[in-house]
Amino acid sequence: MWNAIFGSSEEPSPTALEVTFTLNGKQVTVGNEVVEGTSLNSYIRDVAKLKGTKFMCTEGGCGACVVAATIEHPVTKQKQTLSVNSCLVPVFACHGWDIRTVEGIGNKRDGYHPVQANLAQFNGTQCGFCSPGMVMNMYSLVADGKTPTMAEVENAFGGNLCRCTGYRSILDAFKALAKDATPMMKKQCADIEDMYKICSKTGLACSGSCKKDSNFEEIVPKSVKIPAANWYKVTTLNDLFSVITSLGATVYQLSAGNTAEGVYRHYNRQFDARIDVKDVPDLRTINTSGGFTVGANVTLTEAIAAFKTQAATTGYSYLTELANHLDVVANTSVRNIGTLVGNLVLKKDHNEFPSDVFVILEAAGATLNILSNPTTTTNVTLTNFLTYNLAGKVVLNIAFPAFATNHRFRTLKITPRKQNAHAYVSAGFRIRVADTINWNVNEQPRIVFAGINPQFNRATNTENYLMGKNLLDAATIQGALNTLAAELVPDSQPLDASPQYRKQVAQGVFYKFLLGLDPNRVSASKRSGAENLIRPLSSGKQDFETNPGVYPLNEPIPKLEAAAQTAGEAEYINDIPERPGELHGAFVLTTQATGVIASIDDSAALATAGVVAFFKAADIPGKNSFTPQTLPLFVEDEEVFCSGPIKYAGQVVGLVVATSRMAATLGAGLVQVSYAKTEKPILSVREVMKSSADRTFVAKKETQKKAEQPKAAYTITGSFEIASQYHMHMETHTCIAVPTEDGLQVFSASQWIDHIQQVISEVLGITQSTVNVTVRRLGGGYGGKISRPAQVAAACALAADKLGKPVRIVMSLRTNMEAMGKRFPYIHNYDVGVDVNGKIEYLNSTCLQDNGFSFNEAPLLELQAFYPNCYQADAFNMNVQLVKTDKASNTPCRGPGTTEGVAFIEEIMEHIARVTKLDPLQVRLNNMVQLDNPLFNMINDLKLSADYDNRKANVNAFNAANRWKKRGMAIVPTQYRFPVGGNYSAIVSIHHGDGSVSIAHGGIEMGQGMNTKVAQVAAHILGLPLNKISIKPSESLTSANSMVTGGSIGSEAVSYAAMKSCQILLARLEPIRQSMGNPTWEALVQQAYVQNVDMMATFMFAPGQEISPYNIWGTAIAEVEVDILTGERQVLRVDLVEDVGQSLSPLIDVGQIEGAFVMGMGYWLTEELKYDSGSGRLLNTRTWNYKVPGAKDIPADFRINFRKNASNPLGLLNSKATGEPALNMSIVCFFALRNALDSARKDAGDVADYYDIKLPATVETIAMTSLTDTSQFTFA
Ligand SMILES: Cc1cc2nc3c(=O)[nH]c(=O)nc-3n(C[C@H](O)[C@H](O)[C@H](O)COP(=O)(O)OP(=O)(O)OC[C@H]3O[C@@H](n4cnc5c(N)ncnc54)[C@H](O)[C@@H]3O)c2cc1C
Ligand code: FES
Ligand code: FES
Repeated sequence: MWNAIFGSSEEPSPTALEVTFTLNGKQVTVGNEVVEGTSLNSYIRDVAKLKGTKFMCTEGGCGACVVAATIEHPVTKQKQTLSVNSCLVPVFACHGWDIRTVEGIGNKRDGYHPVQANLAQFNGTQCGFCSPGMVMNMYSLVADGKTPTMAEVENAFGGNLCRCTGYRSILDAFKALAKDATPMMKKQCADIEDMYKICSKTGLACSGSCKKDSNFEEIVPKSVKIPAANWYKVTTLNDLFSVITSLGATVYQLSAGNTAEGVYRHYNRQFDARIDVKDVPDLRTINTSGGFTVGANVTLTEAIAAFKTQAATTGYSYLTELANHLDVVANTSVRNIGTLVGNLVLKKDHNEFPSDVFVILEAAGATLNILSNPTTTTNVTLTNFLTYNLAGKVVLNIAFPAFATNHRFRTLKITPRKQNAHAYVSAGFRIRVADTINWNVNEQPRIVFAGINPQFNRATNTENYLMGKNLLDAATIQGALNTLAAELVPDSQPLDASPQYRKQVAQGVFYKFLLGLDPNRVSASKRSGAENLIRPLSSGKQDFETNPGVYPLNEPIPKLEAAAQTAGEAEYINDIPERPGELHGAFVLTTQATGVIASIDDSAALATAGVVAFFKAADIPGKNSFTPQTLPLFVEDEEVFCSGPIKYAGQVVGLVVATSRMAATLGAGLVQVSYAKTEKPILSVREVMKSSADRTFVAKKETQKKAEQPKAAYTITGSFEIASQYHMHMETHTCIAVPTEDGLQVFSASQWIDHIQQVISEVLGITQSTVNVTVRRLGGGYGGKISRPAQVAAACALAADKLGKPVRIVMSLRTNMEAMGKRFPYIHNYDVGVDVNGKIEYLNSTCLQDNGFSFNEAPLLELQAFYPNCYQADAFNMNVQLVKTDKASNTPCRGPGTTEGVAFIEEIMEHIARVTKLDPLQVRLNNMVQLDNPLFNMINDLKLSADYDNRKANVNAFNAANRWKKRGMAIVPTQYRFPVGGNYSAIVSIHHGDGSVSIAHGGIEMGQGMNTKVAQVAAHILGLPLNKISIKPSESLTSANSMVTGGSIGSEAVSYAAMKSCQILLARLEPIRQSMGNPTWEALVQQAYVQNVDMMATFMFAPGQEISPYNIWGTAIAEVEVDILTGERQVLRVDLVEDVGQSLSPLIDVGQIEGAFVMGMGYWLTEELKYDSGSGRLLNTRTWNYKVPGAKDIPADFRINFRKNASNPLGLLNSKATGEPALNMSIVCFFALRNALDSARKDAGDVADYYDIKLPATVETIAMTSLTDTSQFTFA
């Protein structure tokens, strides 16, 4: 019918009323029964009930949801397996795809895929929440017989976030599968294949038979129409225009990759009809004859490949630059389906969007061919496209010009993080000169920018200025820079980098372009300014010794759950199957930080289909608080639901409950909350200091009596301000509450079962013993799940109790970030007197701690205990003031108080070094506790192994020789004063039938490897192989009253409790053993059973037992490189030594150290929270605008050493804890940056000893602290 309209000769294509695809080899059809907007992720998890695939951000930014899709190309008809973000793909868009989830490539029963096995064996999983996405990303890279190189593997993980591991182990696991992996790595893989049951024929997991199980071939791609959803899929241009015509006035949208939804969250939901165009061959055709055109809906991945190929043709070499630029657009999975034109239309619809595609295509001079019907095209420039009326039209393809000789072309993208980040500023430059002797500009140049302001794309004044001029003449350069400066007028947006920075960096990259044109005309010291930072292939070394005599203790083994995590078999709370009648909850949050709630109108929400109820403060039968002061950490109440007076923007007002998560979220958005008496919120310590409000509590517990202030050679005062950090656990806050016969069964993603149980009992007014809490594992916690989960659990339990139905809450990333407290920010003011050697003679300081709205959980003691670090502290006089601000009550984040305490004193050491002109390490050594301090030797050893002295000399030489690239090195020691506190139980049961052992403990496994350590200890004590030990979920019954798992002590404490329980059992078995001679274990326990011996034992760890407080010593050296023109930086190398005693489990300890260090790098270098000053709302609540480190942000060379011969008699079985000390040392990267900046500032004429740096030291901060000025942008 549609063909008839346009008279096309194309064959009519059949239309189906449902989409068909295969899921793990099984054909499925999806049609009217599925709600429009259902993502592939929802389908996989909620309909197909495959819970291996996870989700977190739902915007293409984290990779938790990645699956593999084998897709036939509409033009080449070749099938290719690609990673895609299942959260962004509408399930209707999957017609003809063959989709594999993590369950579909390997599992416990059939055997694991080599990708899974490698990730497990290389210890690339911790909490494991990211693992299925990691696995499927790698699977897609090697599927179809592809053989990536190590560099290609490393490059492909920009879109897969991991908050636990620090990436090194993941990258090693996958690089070992690359074609250029070293023989040693390949051998490791072969060894692994023996262990994980892998099919030798296919290299895949054994499926029990060798026949192909895919039905993919049977599905013929064809047009689709799903009436209920108004979803169309077309495969010809004729059909496409027929549908457009038939839709008449209906507002429709074309769907290609559908990834625009990941940028503007509701971008693709504001349309009444969608037309899937990605299988229209004309839109995917790449034509190289008679020019070069690329189909509008060619994906970014295809475009990269096409550009690289075409670059070999005369006139098109510039396409290499485009390919390289596209490689840093979005991430692999987005690029695999996101298309060129999709990006351009995004820019058209949202002019402020910093579109890289627009910048590089406009700089190249590409044009668009736009169809108004199947045969009529109009050629449009990119600039004109922005205002072109696209209604009823379709972009057909993009035409790329061939460049004549003497063109110079370069594009640059400056980002807050190495990969998967949109640009602060993107730029493209195309200039043609008559010859490269006189450099006379003889054609209108193209100078294009994104990130300046929504209207600004071309620097036309500068382009005009350059016409006819000698490009490399000093006067021309300054003139161009001045013209550019005048026309660059960046706007001010709260979430963007500052206008000043964006202007500076835009000028900086233009200068960079000029520097690279003819290096011979540039002075030697400025030449390197032209280059981008080049990151080498990363590598890591782990140096530790083990004692096979005590194996399985001290044995380097992967986590017990590792294989299950890599196959999606490890169950997280949201993976627990839905029960009949189950409901879903979504929170309503305040949008104002101050005032009172005047009214709540829930009528629109309750009228929404699927919404069942709305609960608010008045519905709480018991106490409206989740911070009981009978537990440690809490000193005041925090409400479950805001009862009136508002404490912060993001505070929970109530809970909408509905039949689906989608309906609940929709309903929550419709609850109208009105406010009264609002005032401008106070959001920082500095604002508190300026305000008259009484918000401060002085915790005047001085570390020492105020010292007599001696006369000092130097007196130094300073103020060091450090910011906050969001935990970014990949599993957001989650809870399921199920009414049961005796009360409630609660599954809570919590680090503290006891807290959950007590809060629910108090909120509901029911006895504690009727609240049964179970926690199998967490998808990361890092302190964020210490106290806040109780609020979620209380709301969930309330709804379940009131409605008599199971209720599930899975918080969205946005609500999670807005509602929950974060790491405590501080200001540290100090006044220090030192002698000529930099030794501190007195130190008076105040730490002002931003608590958010309550004084709960303040890490006061930790701060005070760690402030002295490893230094002689007799003359230290530090006090802490707790300050209340109108923000969420802050809550511990990995290394709370300890990280900051160490940072404060270490910053003072750096300050002293600069004022006294001494080496910072010497200042540290001069201040260190001299007696019984192993750090002197550890530092010397690390300096030797890291070749510190030579490298430092090289850094100095490098800095002397380079004006625009700088390097810096630093060294930071730490003395982690490990405290012993809390009570943690374990229960060990021996099963008489086969002698196997079950253990449940009072800790929470959240990736730190606690279960593995417990099993290793129990196996060691009982003299059994590890496979005899099974660790069960933690429960309120088996571990009543156990303390929160946190502060590194958990693993040690529960391992100790398990050890004591095992020893109790061994003592009970001993008489029988003696009576039997030398029985086997199995015979022994069977006999014990016959004799009615109790083979269950429990023990509770508590302070005062055999584990005493001890010190964990460590030192880290970091080297960084900075691009002064842009502020970009990379950590070139980190050497770190940590004292782990005799490690209980070396691989796990390495993982803890690496993960903690990289989390610290995020804290100091990239993660920045921004609030709206008017409402107090947190502004960056997405992966799009909050940047935790990615795989290419970690040290390029990352070397972890365990201190040798360091048995610890005070710890458990000679070991030490490892979870947090490395975070304390991560500030070394910041000091290395400071060191690099010193050189840049000196070159810029700075004479100051010391200067403040705003934290985090983002790319923007670095550039703005470097004293760079365009007057320095010369070639001389
Ligand atoms: C996590 C993430 C990170 C990203 N990072 C970057 C980045 O760093 N830099 C950057 O520049 N971009 C970035 N992007 C944007 C990304 O490049 C775009 O989302 C993608 O290119 C859009 O293509 P699509 O095919 O998915 O478009 P879709 O979402 O399918 O469609 C977008 C729009 O294009 C229209 N459209 C599609 N095809 C046609 C056609 N043939 N004719 C007319 N209109 C059409 C649709 O109607 C729709 O309005 C990122 C995106 C994500 C999700
Ligand atoms: S959930 Fe899909 S990328 Fe984060
Ligand atoms: S293991 Fe990667 S997020 Fe926890």
